[in-house]
Amino acid sequence: MKVIELETIDSTNIYAKLNIDTLDDKTVVLTRRQTSGRGRLSRLWVDLGEGNLFMSFVLKPSDTFNEIYPNLTQYLSVCLCKVLEKYGLAPQIKWPNDVLIDGKKIAGILSETVMQGTKFKGLVLGIGVNLNADKKDVDTVPDKLVTSLNLELNRKVDLHTFFNKLTTEFFKNYDEFLTNGFEEIKDDYITRNCFINKELNVQIFNKIETGLAKSVNDNGELVLLNSENKELVLTIGDIL
Ligand code: BTN
Repeated sequence: MKVIELETIDSTNIYAKLNIDTLDDKTVVLTRRQTSGRGRLSRLWVDLGEGNLFMSFVLKPSDTFNEIYPNLTQYLSVCLCKVLEKYGLAPQIKWPNDVLIDGKKIAGILSETVMQGTKFKGLVLGIGVNLNADKKDVDTVPDKLVTSLNLELNRKVDLHTFFNKLTTEFFKNYDEFLTNGFEEIKDDYITRNCFINKELNVQIFNKIETGLAKSVNDNGELVLLNSENKELVLTIGDIL
């Protein structure tokens, strides 16, 4: 693993995508401050100040796209849970890759596929984790209930210690994940879920699907049972 540490950048994902040709496989871009962080579904990722984690993995596992690559966000959510558990917390996963503590979001994960025409160049897997945020700032984040590790532990968190734990956890089973895909992490993912057997509203672009969350299948897709007892298999979406 190679680490690039920046002082301030618009977005580690943007930086990694722009420099994908010169960045080696398994490079990690870390920045102290991020001025224009990007989130899923065209949302923003707010910088809650110094001491929070903003980073992107640059991954070039092959010359062609593989259908298991989108599941890397779920793989990373499981890795993050394992790290948070080392801090004594009980994180849960909200499909597809939100990590929550007591229902409050502590991190966000955004994967972007980099193509040049039809050629697959690599993946940029970004993650932001709230490690040292002020209570007044997390309370101002729009739409979601949000928390931060320091607020959960009542103490300051060392950014580099957390970074080392997360990257070590990520690369520990990364090769196995590339071989086996979602099935490699399915049990670890399911045991930490907070949505199975719940009645959900899931937004997919401009549409909302409602149903009972039945399971997550071997591809990491959400299986919903709607009011007509019809199974809906969702690949992307946002649980509201
Ligand atoms: C989400 O919407 O929950 C995903 C947020 C992802 C934020 C991280 S912060 C580091 C990396 N750089 C970005 O611009 N976004 C990701």
